[in-house]
Amino acid sequence: MKTLAHLLQRNREWASEQLHHDPKFFSRLSQIQQPEYLWIGCSDSRVPANQIVSLPPGEVFVHRNIANVVVHTDMNCLSVLQYAVEVLQVKHIIVCGHYGCGGVKAAMDGQEHGQIDNWLRHIQDVARLHQQELFEIEDEQQRIDRLCELNVLEQVRNVCNTTVVKKAWKAGAELSVHSWIYGIANGILHDLGACISSLEQLEALGWRSGRFQPE
Ligand code: CO
Repeated sequence: MKTLAHLLQRNREWASEQLHHDPKFFSRLSQIQQPEYLWIGCSDSRVPANQIVSLPPGEVFVHRNIANVVVHTDMNCLSVLQYAVEVLQVKHIIVCGHYGCGGVKAAMDGQEHGQIDNWLRHIQDVARLHQQELFEIEDEQQRIDRLCELNVLEQVRNVCNTTVVKKAWKAGAELSVHSWIYGIANGILHDLGACISSLEQLEALGWRSGRFQPE
């Protein structure tokens, strides 16, 4: 039987270190969680949400999947969103992609990868929406990295157009949706600039779904 004893040992050391710094750490957390942030990121092991923004347990509600995709009909992601917005009342939703994303790369390499190709179709849709811009980038790595950025912006748009977020804004909730991307090579987060805090801002960007208007 394999027990991963070394990980359990590390856990004991971590827990006692936390108690050493803050004896009430776990008893406080066991009562309530009040995170201000919902993180929607990639499952990539190199992009751990809490660590890269240096926040302890209890501060970030997290949803991760391959290539940080927000699909209109994904009950998993939508349930996380609803709980975060309506129950936890987070103030910020951070969609965080990362450069060199394996999911984004796989979506564009023309190979077959099995089941995951069905998920990566969402990334291929993003690429199709921006194909002219992507065609003009000759360097393959740069093209993938640009698609990583465009994917974040597209997923921000998807978050903003969920019933959950639109309902919260209509009710006057203080809620902002942020577009971030992380550089695995240097550990630095970049803000891609799209930060949306109301239906009016979504409308002004021409990002509100179901409105047929020129962008
Ligand atoms: Co990734």
